[in-house]
Amino acid sequence: MAEPLRVGIAGLGTVGASVIRLLERQGAALAARSGRAVKVTAVSARDKSRDRGVDVSNMVWFDDPVALAKSSDIDLFVELIGGDEGPARAAIEAALSSGKSVVTANKALLAKHGMALAKMAEDKRVALAFEASVAGGIPIVKTLREGLAGNAISRVYGILNGTCNYILSRMELEGLSFEECLKDAQRLGYAEADPTFDIGGFDTAHKLAILTSLAFGTAVDAEAVHVEGIQSITLADLKAAEELGYRIKLLGVAQRTDKGIEQRVHPTMVPKSSSIAEVMGVTNAVTIDADAVKELTLVGPGAGGMATASAVVADIADIAKGIRSAPFGLPSSALEKASRIPVQRHEGGYYIRLTVHDRPGAAAAIATRMAERQISLESIMQRKPVPKRGAAASASTEAVPVVLITYATSESTIREALEAVVKDGYIAGAPQVIRIERE
Ligand code: HSE
Repeated sequence: MAEPLRVGIAGLGTVGASVIRLLERQGAALAARSGRAVKVTAVSARDKSRDRGVDVSNMVWFDDPVALAKSSDIDLFVELIGGDEGPARAAIEAALSSGKSVVTANKALLAKHGMALAKMAEDKRVALAFEASVAGGIPIVKTLREGLAGNAISRVYGILNGTCNYILSRMELEGLSFEECLKDAQRLGYAEADPTFDIGGFDTAHKLAILTSLAFGTAVDAEAVHVEGIQSITLADLKAAEELGYRIKLLGVAQRTDKGIEQRVHPTMVPKSSSIAEVMGVTNAVTIDADAVKELTLVGPGAGGMATASAVVADIADIAKGIRSAPFGLPSSALEKASRIPVQRHEGGYYIRLTVHDRPGAAAAIATRMAERQISLESIMQRKPVPKRGAAASASTEAVPVVLITYATSESTIREALEAVVKDGYIAGAPQVIRIERE
């Protein structure tokens, strides 16, 4: 058997400790499959004295991850520190410069510096592997890069953030407020250190930028992603969606259109009959539309120590076997520049919720504004007035929720029509607009 592969791990949080445990547990099987033992020989973390439930006493300890990355005690550097700059970036660059392969779970760093790092890895003829960076335990990177190599992909979309899906699922199923669900997600350890990353859609955007590159052969460009978070979603929207046969999910969508590759992250209405609609809680899911395979959906744990460690260990196993793919599937010089398509040019169906002053002519005026722009309505639903607490308001002046579902049209057309509706003076407050993603 060949010499053992000596692994150095920087970052001993939940994922780092799980990688050590998993390598111990699967050590014999991994060695048999790779023809080579895998041994963690060195580690680095902030606090040496902390008990992480794993024995690191026989590993060389480094306070500085960059020193670990450069060390001759290791052949492979595993970065689990996080952050798109600082020690994570410095350590990965040091490892690649010194000719070592790198495994990372760091989506934010790849979204920002993925191209430069891929180029460095190619120049040094070493691997840069990142299965754990998108959708945790779901092997989506390998699926897109290797498993679907014989396909032309037309769309990739998915639930890529467990925190958002957990919040939307609990709001829908238990009628809880957004704030309550977010607090629970944080208490259970699903949310990122800064929850805006999750709920604002940025974590999903980072992951989507990586998937787009793998699926469409474009350079990773997180700036090309249109991003909206879930903060504006109310219980009224979730209830209306349910009645109309939809669920609301925060989706990342990358789609080939005649204008280029659209990349967008936003709350989305998905038909309840779709595979993705059934995915509840912290679970992630990715659906791929491709010519040969048609539709493929992968569902699984998107976060958590062992699930993420599963992806990290899969990358380590590839490197132990001597497999070195171009990080994003093509040599970095062959990746095309991603198009930046303004969301106004998006075409699709729309859900619109208006709060309408209940007066004769209101519904007709709204319908006219839509018809003037050739927007065709699939359904229109008016609800009884929401009773105001403690006040017996007169029915004639009360505002009522009106929900419209449109057939496919363009975003700019919808926005123009709504501007006209607002000017007509029949509605109170800003319209709620949610894009529909069809199967
Ligand atoms: N905060 C992320 C999520 C963790 O909720 O999915 C995994 O990237």
